[in-house]
Amino acid sequence: MSDETQAMQENEEQLSRVSRVKASGTGVQPRLTRRLRWTRSDLKVNLRRQTRIDIMKAILLEKPQHFSIAQISEPASPGRGEALVRVHRVGICGTDFSGYLGKMPFYSYPRIPGHELGVEVLSVGEGVTEVRPGDRCSVEPYMNCQTCPACGRGHTNCCENLQVLGVHTDGGLRPQFIVPARKLHTSTKLTFDQLALVETLAIGCHAVNRGHPLNGEFVLVIGAGPIGLSTMEFIRLAGARTIVLDLNPQRLEFCRKVMRVDHTLVPCQDGSELEQLKSFTGGELPALVIDATGSNKSMSNALNYVGFAGRLVFVGITTAEVSFGHPMMHRREMTLLASRNALPPDFKRIIQLIEEGRIDTRPWITHHAMFEEMIAQFPAWLNPENRVLKALVHV
Ligand SMILES: NC(=O)c1ccc[n+]([C@@H]2O[C@H](COP(=O)([O-])OP(=O)(O)OC[C@H]3O[C@@H](n4cnc5c(N)ncnc54)[C@H](O)[C@@H]3O)[C@@H](O)[C@H]2O)c1
Ligand SMILES: [Zn+2]
Ligand SMILES: [Zn+2]
Repeated sequence: MSDETQAMQENEEQLSRVSRVKASGTGVQPRLTRRLRWTRSDLKVNLRRQTRIDIMKAILLEKPQHFSIAQISEPASPGRGEALVRVHRVGICGTDFSGYLGKMPFYSYPRIPGHELGVEVLSVGEGVTEVRPGDRCSVEPYMNCQTCPACGRGHTNCCENLQVLGVHTDGGLRPQFIVPARKLHTSTKLTFDQLALVETLAIGCHAVNRGHPLNGEFVLVIGAGPIGLSTMEFIRLAGARTIVLDLNPQRLEFCRKVMRVDHTLVPCQDGSELEQLKSFTGGELPALVIDATGSNKSMSNALNYVGFAGRLVFVGITTAEVSFGHPMMHRREMTLLASRNALPPDFKRIIQLIEEGRIDTRPWITHHAMFEEMIAQFPAWLNPENRVLKALVHV
């Protein structure tokens, strides 16, 4: 067989594999769809250029509780303002768990998950000045439109047309993809593990910024999952004092032993935790309460814990109704705040804090999985007994 015939045959085989992927509805990207329009004459052009249709593997959440390996085409060259990145680590969080369980509003299937990313820049498009090939980066996965009023006011975290990688659009569980270069935050010191952790920490950072605790103030964090824990890092850095409330005694033990939190408590049916809370603070209720449970019951009840003229931040997310008697809020002239995603300066600050050793990432990373092994390991990460704080997938 001549070289040309062999190459042509290989190309045809690749095309037919791509077609099979498309036929089985595995949610490949528009870029792939474009490539599927290739004809025999395109292939001849490719042969003349000595190029092949390069295929790579991605992890696809086809539907709730069903991952598969999809064959997708390699990305083309990055366009203006874009960078082609090689994915090294993907952090898995509650959002991915909810997507897997089919409990995530706005999540659509099939989807390539992955929004907590440690990546390396492979090449950049025209006009890119932020990054260079070889740079190691954390990715800010919030793709904002840059034209809506929220974007205009700098609130890129809550753009009206926000598309979050791995949630609304395909994310990082694939070897390479193209991302706007303005969404990359570089570090010369952090490992890919650490870079993948930055986004989780950014959620806590933004929530604490919303509540802006003062030095010495008491802050009650309700919910000691990864998001609650990430708020604790920034409460400590603000010089405020953390109290943690959770139903799970093991999680509270972790707060005391690892996060250096002095005071923890569990909710009581009779409301007597209020007295316990006051005993920690010298009689007052906390000036700031951050609810990171995602429980509408907890969020409705959280107003009880806020001191007069205090602030309450909802960083946890629920699709259920949150309700409370208005006098509870009015008497205290309480400020109620939501916290969604994070801002670009949060990413830069966290990278610097880790570089300076002011955030220790070691306790955070509890589990690892190689790329394809993730599919088998993922269900076990949902089991609280396995005490997953952050699981990282090696791509
Ligand atoms: N604001 C954002 O942009 C953003 C980003 C990511 C995740 N989140 C949300 O943050 C929330 C927390 O995420 P996580 O990964 O830490 O979740 P998680 O489930 O691991 O942790 C929640 C914790 O809250 C505790 N809890 C539940 N109900 C409680 C109650 N009534 N009283 C006291 N404690 C209670 C649980 O025991 C658990 O320890 C979720 O709702 C998630 O969707 C928000
Ligand atoms: Zn996350
Ligand atoms: Zn916008």
